[in-house]
Amino acid sequence: MIKINKISKSRIESVDFDNLVFGKTFTDHMFICHFKNGSWLDPEIKPYQPIKIEPSASVFHYGQAVFEGMKAYKDNDGKVWLFRPNENFKRINRSSHRLQIPEFPEEYFFEGLNQLIKLDKDWVKPGYENSLYIRPFVFASEYTAQATASSEYIFMIICTPVKSYYNGDNINVLVSEKYSRAANGGVGYVKAAGNYAAQFYPTSEAAKKGFQQIIWTDANQHEFLEEAGTMNIFFMINEVLVTSPTNDRILDGVTRKSIITLAKKRGIRVEERPIKITEVIDAHKNNKLTEVFGTGTAVVVLPINSFTFKKISYKLPKETNLANLLKEELLGIQYNSLNDEYNWTRKID
Ligand code: COI
Repeated sequence: MIKINKISKSRIESVDFDNLVFGKTFTDHMFICHFKNGSWLDPEIKPYQPIKIEPSASVFHYGQAVFEGMKAYKDNDGKVWLFRPNENFKRINRSSHRLQIPEFPEEYFFEGLNQLIKLDKDWVKPGYENSLYIRPFVFASEYTAQATASSEYIFMIICTPVKSYYNGDNINVLVSEKYSRAANGGVGYVKAAGNYAAQFYPTSEAAKKGFQQIIWTDANQHEFLEEAGTMNIFFMINEVLVTSPTNDRILDGVTRKSIITLAKKRGIRVEERPIKITEVIDAHKNNKLTEVFGTGTAVVVLPINSFTFKKISYKLPKETNLANLLKEELLGIQYNSLNDEYNWTRKID
């Protein structure tokens, strides 16, 4: 069903897998499929290469584009696994739906993913520090300057071998008093490309002050803590794990929901509820705030070392026991070294 055109010679020998920069090296092949005249046509895997597109393509003007982030992991026997790929499939179609992009067929998605990763499986290296970051994305490709939904789209999957997302482990974040990433009725809950573009300016301003990321606050009062950078965010307060509930503004992260499940299994009370900066500062003052961490496909689980609000910096305890335990367990499942009791993983074959 999917046409496959293999490369004649792999580029893998030229890659320094010990010194990868996140998202800068791409595997030998890519998946591509076009939407024209009302249907998705001719899914194809071919050598990774530039695509030819006119400057009038609608995506360049109106940003009608969505994406996903997922990973493949290699176990100690050389088998390659995906983690909850159905969640990414459902979410890219939720994102597409919100951006008026036609939904992508399930069989093309899974067949394309499976064949692509099978072809490029040597690019997935074993060990918890290595994975293959998979980037499915869709964009508007009609040649037009009309500000309406495009009548043509391109769906692609490209893959990049990665190590960790952040270099270094000292993550200090700035609580935003001005900027928000999402508002009610908007697109914060989906992976619209523009959600990320809109973060670049505030994040680079924060970086000039020495912060790795911003904690996004609600668009009305900047009172509620919503996400951190490209991650969902969790607070351990008085032995209770608190995170924002999913709604119009919060991304329904696959790592987020997996961490909630694993925490509950450990008997930890988890509350999905709005959380105010004042509550977090009070908890910090009373020594009840023991951990803050972000979650996401790219970062997995990332402990935060300090947060700053209104120029006051609040340091967090160095021990991040819960974040570490949850991360180890999640990685164990993802790399097939722990029992997958929730049936989350899917083997590439
Ligand atoms: C992911 O964790 O997959 C993300 O969406 C982050 C990405 C923007 C690098």
